[in-house]
Amino acid sequence: MTDTAETIRQQAAARTIRLEVARYRPEQDGEPVFQSYDVPLMDDWAVLDGLNYVKDRLDGTLSFRWSCRMGICGSCGMNVNGEPRLTCGTFFTEYGDGPIRIEPLKGFPVIRDLVVDIDDFLVKLQHVQPWLIREGEELPLTAEYAQTPEQLEAYKQYSMCINCLLCYSACPVYVLDPDFLGPAAIALAQRYNLDSRDQGDRFDLLNLDEAVWGCTFVGECTRACPKHVDPAEAIQRYKLTAAIRSILPWSRR
Ligand code: SF4
Ligand code: FES
Repeated sequence: MTDTAETIRQQAAARTIRLEVARYRPEQDGEPVFQSYDVPLMDDWAVLDGLNYVKDRLDGTLSFRWSCRMGICGSCGMNVNGEPRLTCGTFFTEYGDGPIRIEPLKGFPVIRDLVVDIDDFLVKLQHVQPWLIREGEELPLTAEYAQTPEQLEAYKQYSMCINCLLCYSACPVYVLDPDFLGPAAIALAQRYNLDSRDQGDRFDLLNLDEAVWGCTFVGECTRACPKHVDPAEAIQRYKLTAAIRSILPWSRR
């Protein structure tokens, strides 16, 4: 680093921004409380960098999840100033001088501080059979199944999901009705429904009030999604598929 860059960095480090972080330690807190931490206000820091500064320098008891720091693992989702965000991709520069309020993802039970219980989603994910189903073939599938670019394009958008659950936290239906299958699980079902290699039939899993018909098309899931998966579109597309199939039962997709 050049001397000039180091000087700028030191000047920037003299400024701070306040993080108001939700704490919930079940052994001592009857309900969540907020705790404030002042961290260096660095233009190139994401909210996750601020939390790691707290963890490393100020308060090692703070609990939160993260892994990749590059929008891939999907584990750092939290509510930042009321919006579900990936904290590794949400930068201080969005929030001026602060403060920034950081809470666990809404709609999920809180285990500790910013860590939520995602077991409900994992059960739902498995329920939609998010894998290639081939009729009359045993695993492991060793044959090659070539696809054209157009066949890949048909489902590629839905394959970008990183299971970050921001869409669930943004979804007003899921927050009110935990039985709702939810945006990402349905989008992932569509990822396989639209894959030319898949021969499965997820109609009975998706054609339900608790699945696609529970969606009121608010669209917050799509707005929250950091990977542009567009789960709202996936759900509406399957509603059309289900409606056509109710008229033409032999139609599969
Ligand atoms: S659909 Fe988008 S917001 Fe929902 S889990 Fe997948 S990547 Fe995250
Ligand atoms: S740390 Fe992996 S997506 Fe943010």
